[in-house]
Amino acid sequence: METLRLTVEAGDPESEASRRAIAQAAEILRGGGTVAFPTETVYGLGANALDVAAVEKIFVAKERPSWDPLIVHIGEREMLGTVAAEVSQDANRLMEAFWPGPLTLLLVKHPRIPEIVTAGLERVGVRMPAHPVAQALLRAAEVPVAAPSANRFGRISPTCADHVAEDLEGRIDAILDGGETTHGVESTVVDVREDGCVIYRPGTITLEQLRPVCRGEVRFRTELGEGELAKAAPAPGMGVRHYAPRARLVLVEGAGLGGVELAMMEEVNRLEAAGEVVGAMAPGGFMAALMAMRKKPFDIRGFTMGHNTVHVYHWGSWGNPEELARKLYAGLRWLDAAGVTVIVCPLPAPVGIGLAVRDRLVRASDR
Ligand code: TXA
Ligand code: MG
Repeated sequence: METLRLTVEAGDPESEASRRAIAQAAEILRGGGTVAFPTETVYGLGANALDVAAVEKIFVAKERPSWDPLIVHIGEREMLGTVAAEVSQDANRLMEAFWPGPLTLLLVKHPRIPEIVTAGLERVGVRMPAHPVAQALLRAAEVPVAAPSANRFGRISPTCADHVAEDLEGRIDAILDGGETTHGVESTVVDVREDGCVIYRPGTITLEQLRPVCRGEVRFRTELGEGELAKAAPAPGMGVRHYAPRARLVLVEGAGLGGVELAMMEEVNRLEAAGEVVGAMAPGGFMAALMAMRKKPFDIRGFTMGHNTVHVYHWGSWGNPEELARKLYAGLRWLDAAGVTVIVCPLPAPVGIGLAVRDRLVRASDR
């Protein structure tokens, strides 16, 4: 299968060429094909959610197990009626606050949504993305679009069109290239209940943002007691190793920036001495420390300094969790491509979007 590359002009989804690309992508979706497209979180691999044969193609292309449900994307609120059978007042309030945006709500599915989409579950994850290209595509497609992240199952989510091509070239009908995504980690998946909200997957919409909008408590699914857990909706896809680079991932923690720097250097030196090809996800502040503490040369993204054994990805500034989120997957992919056998990565503070970054790193690691 040849994968068509359709390009939306940077910064101008309204231009003539951009509109043509979006219209062509929408046509492919309506015709039962698969299209990868940008959202504000990561690239999704879309197919018409009402067409079983089209949705099957997603599972085949990704090599995704059939027990893992897909999120359905809509371009406007009017389309919600074809996807969800009922929407509570509380769910409505969250939509008012966060849609369009990176929030996925678990809602009782409409009978029209085929079982394959929800992996047989009673509820369907629904989201209305804010990205202008996703919005334009969904409106032009005029059907709800089922879309998981556009990577091979278990691998790192894509934040640009080249990442999608790495995993899915030749396996899908088209890639709609709209440049890099905005946030870099996936949407927050939330179940709105009468007694409060339950976060199934931490994501771009933060706990701090949800709290003032949710009536009642906001809890993580992992915090539910056994009795409650038995009654709650299942969370397939949450327990398995996921978001993972090919290299082994070693996570470090330390008190304050200094403590983290020290822990990182110790780990880098130990692994290197053990004969590993080491990669480091180094926040900006670490560069000076790494330089000062290492006697041997190493390479910084793209620059080679002597014979290297340590590859350093310039992650972003430690005090800026939004930047760390945005560059997380690109960094892991870059280090994989450099051929490292192990990646040393510090865990950001569990605040704001830092919580989602930690979640992905822990699930991608051996811990
Ligand atoms: O930001 C995002 O959410 C991206 C973009 C493309 O929208 N999509 C995405 O989809 O991350 P995916 O398939 O990679 O992750 C969806 C996860 C599932 O693995 C599952 O954990 C949860 O969301 N999920 C989806 N539908 C569910 C349902 N009906 N019940 C419980 N969990 C569900
Ligand atoms: Mg995924």
